[in-house]
Amino acid sequence: MINNKFLVILFIGIFSITFSQNPNQLFSVKELTKTNKGMVVSAHSLASEAGALMLRQGGNAFDAAIATQLALAVVYPQAGNIGGGGFLVGHTSQGENFSLDYRETAPAKAHSNIFIDGDGKARTDWSQGGHLAVGVPGSIRGMEQSMKYAKLPWKILIAPAIKLAKHGFLISEEEANLLNTHRKDFIQYNAGKVAFVKDRPWKKGDLLIQKDLAKTLKRIAKKGAQEFYQGAIAKKIVKEMSRVKGLIQIEDLNNYKAIFREPLHFTYQDKDIYTMGLPSSGGIILGQILYMLDKENLSQYGQNSAEAVHIMVEAERRAYADRAEYMGDPAFTHDYTKYLLSPEYINSRWKSFSFGSPTPSSQFKNDKNAAKESTQTTHISVLDKWGNAASVTTTLNGYYGARVVVQGAGFLLNNEMDDFSIKPGVANMFGAVGGEANKVEPGKRMLSSMTPTLILKNKAVYMVVGTPGGTTIPTSVLQAIVNKDIFHTTASDAVNLPKFHHQWLPDVIYHESNFPENSLKQLQKMGYILKERSPIGRTEMIVVSQGGQTTAVADIRGDDSVAVE
Ligand code: DON
Repeated sequence: MINNKFLVILFIGIFSITFSQNPNQLFSVKELTKTNKGMVVSAHSLASEAGALMLRQGGNAFDAAIATQLALAVVYPQAGNIGGGGFLVGHTSQGENFSLDYRETAPAKAHSNIFIDGDGKARTDWSQGGHLAVGVPGSIRGMEQSMKYAKLPWKILIAPAIKLAKHGFLISEEEANLLNTHRKDFIQYNAGKVAFVKDRPWKKGDLLIQKDLAKTLKRIAKKGAQEFYQGAIAKKIVKEMSRVKGLIQIEDLNNYKAIFREPLHFTYQDKDIYTMGLPSSGGIILGQILYMLDKENLSQYGQNSAEAVHIMVEAERRAYADRAEYMGDPAFTHDYTKYLLSPEYINSRWKSFSFGSPTPSSQFKNDKNAAKESTQTTHISVLDKWGNAASVTTTLNGYYGARVVVQGAGFLLNNEMDDFSIKPGVANMFGAVGGEANKVEPGKRMLSSMTPTLILKNKAVYMVVGTPGGTTIPTSVLQAIVNKDIFHTTASDAVNLPKFHHQWLPDVIYHESNFPENSLKQLQKMGYILKERSPIGRTEMIVVSQGGQTTAVADIRGDDSVAVE
């Protein structure tokens, strides 16, 4: 059961906040059930409210998703962004399912040895911080392209973000701590003064005003995405890049394209899952694991029991080994999606499973690396009263991305280049290894784990789900789905019960601190190596019950919050 201490459910009914009246709410709505109302779940109450405000003004799920992303770029600078990238998986009430890829790309000047120094050493410090780490940002192009499905004018969608940047908002304890932790980096990587550095340490309740960002957002409101990719903001990005070792040139920005793709679709139980395919590994991993689990009768074991964890871990191990070998940007490397999800392949992959004994990861391939603990990305789940749904995961990669703020423009740039395999077998910040398929190439999209997901039942949305968490993303989404649909937990428990993760390498089961002791002991007896780690993910879930009630749940691991139309 969940520790009640963490379950601070502040039921506040239907809000009609306008941002000019009260920009400084510091509340968190953890769960809400409504009928026939649109709902938004995101990492920050003010961002969720920005989305809900769009729903109240007649907008749909796509309007809300755009406004929420823009507001997150202000109130959740650790991950919300206009200088990063993301994926949207959408369903329209007309029955269309689509995905939009606005993942960053490697600049034209990048190449496979860009992160190798004179001694042949892979420099993760270059791929993880500072100007070289920055991929060409996709978020603004992505939001512009998702306007195809939205109803409200761009100016209205961006208005809450502008107000929040201009007038400021009160920061949470988590944000204050994170800003203090990254102070040194902000100073090291930036020439001028940035809004994220104060003369004294930040504390909870301090007002964070971002004047430059407000101006940038105003420009984008007025002139649209072209201001970011061709206009004055593009020039500022290039200037910032040329100040140090950055690679992004004006052509990279001019040429950046968001891509509508067929979503990855597979069936499971009596449902259809629509999720993100390549260049995210997330959907393939989710599908492979669910198919492997289908071979065992998981529901006969308890939720988070040693037996259930054992089976899930063995499926995870196999899927993540495939991630490293086969997955990359399909424009540059062969697309193995069909093969990896085919019954023949799944059967052959599962043949080596033997109940009660772990299969060593070395059996699949021999490599060494060490996973580091999670950093930041953020997920938004939206369902509107018409049945449109948007599942969006967006990222700067690490906390505050490259910690580089575009001078005079006030926004942070991503450090997404680290998601490439910078040298075969060298682990990225999430411990993921890769090789040829995910090597750096000019214009290529780096492999992601983001897994924004929609589940449909009888062609109507049943679940909207996703989370941040680097390589733990697919397994967190998996556990949320398995908890709800195989172990029949409540939506809240599906999100909040303790999580675990295995990613092939290192050959370790990571688990949260409150994981059932008894299961851990049994797993250890079976021969598994266990390691406690920081909280896994921040899952945002919306579930529609058979009776048509909609329940939205915001993860208790953060300040995440639900807002209603
Ligand atoms: O695309 C990816 O898989 C990573 N850049 C996501 C980073 C992330 O989730 C960090 N958050 N905790």
